[in-house]
Amino acid sequence: MGAQARVFVTRRLPGHALERLEAEHDVEVWAGRLPPPRGELLARATEIEGLLSLLTDPVDGELIGAAPRLRAISNYAVGVDNVDVEAASARGIPVGNTPEVLTESTADLALALMLGVARRLSEGEAFVRAGEWATWEPGLMLGRDLHGATVGIVGYGRIGNAVGRRLEGFGCELLTTGRSAGVPLEELLERSDFVTLHCPLTPETRGLIGDEALARMKPTAYLVNTARGPLVDSDALARALHEGSIAGAALDVTDPEPLPGDHSLLAAPNLLVVPHVASATHATRGRMADIAVDNLLAGLAGRPMPHSVNAEALPRATPQAP
Ligand code: DGY
Repeated sequence: MGAQARVFVTRRLPGHALERLEAEHDVEVWAGRLPPPRGELLARATEIEGLLSLLTDPVDGELIGAAPRLRAISNYAVGVDNVDVEAASARGIPVGNTPEVLTESTADLALALMLGVARRLSEGEAFVRAGEWATWEPGLMLGRDLHGATVGIVGYGRIGNAVGRRLEGFGCELLTTGRSAGVPLEELLERSDFVTLHCPLTPETRGLIGDEALARMKPTAYLVNTARGPLVDSDALARALHEGSIAGAALDVTDPEPLPGDHSLLAAPNLLVVPHVASATHATRGRMADIAVDNLLAGLAGRPMPHSVNAEALPRATPQAP
């Protein structure tokens, strides 16, 4: 076993994975339910060699610069848009993420959101609870079918693919757009009954779905986002929902996130919102913790991380799994 390293973990994680980290290293786990405030992160930066961060922690150039001993960053998420990977790579610091284990759970939730918004589930439940269910009515809460619909999958990577597999079972026609294949985004937006987002947040994809993109969608179409909130311009979405230029939207992720209870987007009609829970199953969150710990243990031991997003920047690392 190598020397003990100082490690900061920014939240308690489900399961027992952190025990393996604690068995080998000097670990502080932030006990709060909310993320550690910036000052707390910066205060620890001077000493830590390992950081296990969440998507709510900005691991930016300032933080990395303030951490002269930092040797490994492990992000408890597949997305790493909260980490300045370039700044880490410039210092030779591997950045780990947790791909694959959350693919199927995230795809499940994307389907749940499609069905939920198109079949008006939250509206129906509120109606029953309010005691308004008077009788069976031919025209009550009519929605739209997912089966047989044309679904546009924006970003056809692991999760987009898993969504596509499920939709084949629903008899859907799939349109996809990705880095190297599929139809142009404009065509996808114009032809789809559901548009579901599965691309990473990068400078190129930020604001991908704004006024122009929403205007291309059919008035009967739904937008679903389980990727990252800033892919969608929230003000533009609110306008489109108020004007009825799309039929509805279902969001697992929002901009800002968390979405304050009094945010104007929540006043828009035909909107279903859940609090970034696509990977939130006992099994998946436990597996994510296992991988995050495996990544950190490997990085601190000077071994290639099992899943690293900047493997190419590091002479000793292996290529990232597809
Ligand atoms: C991720 O991993 O990036 C998800 O958004 C949370 O599981």
